[in-house]
Amino acid sequence: MDAPAAIRLSNVTKVYRQGVNEVRALDSLSLTLPAQHFVAVMGASGSGKSTLLHIAAGLARVTSGEVVVHDQTLSAMADDDLTRFRRKHIGLIFQSFNLLPTLNAIENVALPLIINGAKLNVARAKAKDLLALVGLSDRLAHRPDELSGGQQQRVAIARALINEAPLLLADEPTGNLDSHTGEDLLQRLRALATEQHRTIIMVTHDQRAASYADQVIRLQDGKIVTSAE
Ligand SMILES: Nc1ncnc2c1ncn2[C@@H]1O[C@H](COP(=O)(O)OP(=O)(O)OP(=O)(O)O)[C@@H](O)[C@H]1O
Ligand SMILES: [Mg+2]
Repeated sequence: MDAPAAIRLSNVTKVYRQGVNEVRALDSLSLTLPAQHFVAVMGASGSGKSTLLHIAAGLARVTSGEVVVHDQTLSAMADDDLTRFRRKHIGLIFQSFNLLPTLNAIENVALPLIINGAKLNVARAKAKDLLALVGLSDRLAHRPDELSGGQQQRVAIARALINEAPLLLADEPTGNLDSHTGEDLLQRLRALATEQHRTIIMVTHDQRAASYADQVIRLQDGKIVTSAE
């Protein structure tokens, strides 16, 4: 089958500079993923996992190399175009949840859809459904500082799903969840890839979480050291 790649990273290097110090967070990394593929990224702290997701999302610029998502070359796009592209094509679950502190759960989840032009009542209804899905129907009006860490994570997951973006990037999405809730989420991610043709890149430290993926990639010092199907 010759399906077009959902995402292609070619020789991507990311160097962070702080004064005279340089950190090579990604080092000539190449990776091509088809649609409907669920990949787990593992590796020690500092190996470049979050950097890889930020680059894939166009949130960070490459130092050299090329990033292509759905035939669009992110590394060549202007910031405005990149932001617009991201809103339609990419769902993101950050390691720190990045919820807006002044908005309650339902408003946080509905926001990406409203930004994309959906009607308020439509966005709120969908946000409510997604919050039910992650078990938070009884916390719709709670702000982030009124939610536990695992609950905030679940709000962030619902927010990442609301736009039905074809590429989903998740940075340790089960890190703050109990095993039952974590398992639910992993099954849902698995179903999104298989049934809805989403491409998912999930960073995890948990072997059990990684076992839901089609492929496990291991990073070390910004390089892929093993890639097992
Ligand atoms: N904004 C930044 N400025 C400078 N250095 C950075 C920056 N972001 C990340 N780094 C460095 O790049 C390297 C890779 O960081 P990254 O966050 O990708 O690691 P990670 O694999 O996600 O680790 P963890 O498992 O702890 O989340 C680290 O050595 C980190 O210190
Ligand atoms: Mg990280």
